[in-house]
Amino acid sequence: MAARIFALLSVTVFLSIALFLGCQKLGGSGPIQQPIAFSHKIHAGDNQIPCLYCHTYADRSQVAGIPAVETCMGCHKIVGLGKPEVQKVHDYWNKKEPIPWKRVHDLQDFVYFSHKRHVKAGVACENCHGQIAQMDVVEQVSSLKMGWCVTCHESRAKDKEQLTVLKDCATCHK
Ligand code: HEC
Ligand code: HEC
Ligand code: HEC
Ligand code: HEC
Ligand code: HEC
Repeated sequence: MAARIFALLSVTVFLSIALFLGCQKLGGSGPIQQPIAFSHKIHAGDNQIPCLYCHTYADRSQVAGIPAVETCMGCHKIVGLGKPEVQKVHDYWNKKEPIPWKRVHDLQDFVYFSHKRHVKAGVACENCHGQIAQMDVVEQVSSLKMGWCVTCHESRAKDKEQLTVLKDCATCHK
């Protein structure tokens, strides 16, 4: 009897730990509060502004880049005037200050990742970031864990040779 209770307890403890780790993996922290209520749904969804219009470096650099206030003002000198959240954009512009956006995705420094390689190879933003064009607030939908990278590399490698490179530790840990 005591043995059975002990066994049940162990299972419960195991499951709680697994659940806890699972939640951590999913980020679990909920959406991030940004200085301006910028909506991808309004911009990339409803108004179909291309991702690269704002994230101009995604196909030519390691980082995708966050647009400068100047890019926003290109439209908002004439669009959305009178809206309080748009007024905040004007305020940063007038103060000549960058908007202090908070990072959503953040890989550890010991991992090498480059947008250019992936975007040029035709991997869509959505494959890694999910349906951003439907999100009012950006959320991280992929774990960004090693297994996530490697699983896709295994499925996308063109041939055995490329598979070897894409699974090589030194490819992602330089
Ligand atoms: C009008 C400009 C604009 C367009 C178009 C746009 N974005 Fe963004 N994006 C931003 C701004 C500003 C931020 C920073 C604020 C935020 O996180 O919402 C951002 C943040 C992001 C982030 C999170 C960055 C981080 O900190 O980790 C991702 C991922 C992203 N965008 C992907 C996309 C994708 C994919 C598309 C196309 C479907 C797209 N964006 C279209 C302006 C834009
Ligand atoms: C290519 C044009 C374009 C660019 C660039 C652009 N926007 Fe917009 N934005 C729009 C349009 C169109 C709307 C919808 C206006 C409306 O419904 O009246 C909008 C709406 C908004 C709103 C109001 C949302 C609401 O309804 O309260 C905010 C805030 C905003 N944009 C912030 C930004 C920021 C910050 C940037 C730069 C990172 C940016 N926009 C870049 C076209 C643009
Ligand atoms: C193969 C997966 C993958 C694809 C495809 C991808 N991203 Fe990313 N993205 C990431 C990862 C991983 C990070 C975190 C990088 C870091 O923290 O160094 C990131 C970070 C970002 C960021 C914030 C940091 C930065 O680089 O400026 C933006 C913005 C972004 N991505 C936009 C995009 C857009 C737009 C596209 C499509 C044109 C895209 N991403 C395609 C995986 C991807
Ligand atoms: C959705 C699929 C997908 C995901 C997820 C993905 N990759 Fe890739 N990755 C690819 C493809 C496809 C290539 C090959 C690109 C080419 O053919 O040039 C590649 C290539 C690379 C390369 C260049 C390899 C070389 O030849 O030197 C690096 C580095 C890399 N990925 C790192 C990462 C890291 C780190 C992650 C996770 C944070 C990741 N990737 C997630 C699909 C993916
Ligand atoms: C396709 C990219 C990729 C490849 C290939 C890769 N890694 Fe990683 N690795 C990552 C990413 C992303 C992380 C950070 C996220 C995490 O901890 O899972 C990571 C994390 C790690 C960590 C830290 C784990 C921790 O718990 O903090 C070690 C150690 C590691 N990798 C070793 C290796 C070894 C050894 C190889 C070769 C057998 C390898 N990696 C191949 C992407 C890769």
